[in-house]
Amino acid sequence: MSSDSTVVTARHFEYVRMHTRPEDGFLLELKAAARAAGIPPIWIAPEQANLLQILLRASGARRVVEVGTLAGYSAIVMARALPPEGRVDTFELDPGHAAFAAEWASRSDVRARVLVHQGDAHKLLPRLPAASADAAFLDADKGGYPAYLRECLRIVRLGGLILVDNAFAFGELFADQPRDRETPAVRRFNEIMAATREVQSVIVPLGDGMWVGVKIAEPAPAA
Ligand code: SAH
Ligand code: DHB
Ligand code: MG
Repeated sequence: MSSDSTVVTARHFEYVRMHTRPEDGFLLELKAAARAAGIPPIWIAPEQANLLQILLRASGARRVVEVGTLAGYSAIVMARALPPEGRVDTFELDPGHAAFAAEWASRSDVRARVLVHQGDAHKLLPRLPAASADAAFLDADKGGYPAYLRECLRIVRLGGLILVDNAFAFGELFADQPRDRETPAVRRFNEIMAATREVQSVIVPLGDGMWVGVKIAEPAPAA
């Protein structure tokens, strides 16, 4: 730890949580319904939800691409930070997750701003036009992150946001024998992200670690 930073402890995290606007009743209901339906209880933390909304509002984002919808928690959160004509296009491989998310998005206050696309993001992202989004949020299978990053560097406009969840690999970033099969993929991705010149980025240590980046250059055309 360099001397110009405070070592963040569990107590600091608790303090941050206590000073963060909590989720509303609708999102709490969504979580309870997901658990009851046997949907994996996976969603960004409230601190990350606030960070995403602040970044989207501050940048005036209108079009957001999300990779990995699950229950639709983060999609609904992001849609709420967009203007009325804004839209989150969120991609989900699992038909059960996609159906649950579509159902809950349709019940939400932002039903007109969330579009759930069921399918493999590796197949669907290449269909999106270049420079058609103001922000991308990557939160699907971690092995796919390098490919999603490449696609999103095309889809997101210059000056747009590239946001990526789970930089801390489910808390296993430094584990000698990680239990999660995706931990090595997260470690590899973090190296790629740090070396990607087209994005100015930093890991914000909220939730499970969130890469926050801005696209500052167009990627070189693939050879
Ligand atoms: N963003 C959500 C959590 C997403 S969890 C939230 O914070 O509320 C990761 C999701 O990515 C899972 O639902 C998983 O089914 C999905 N996923 C995995 N591989 C995928 C792929 N190739 N294309 C699209 N979605 C994928
Ligand atoms: C898992 C995936 C996520 O995107 C996340 O934020 C937390 C957990 C998982 O696959 O276990
Ligand atoms: Mg995640």
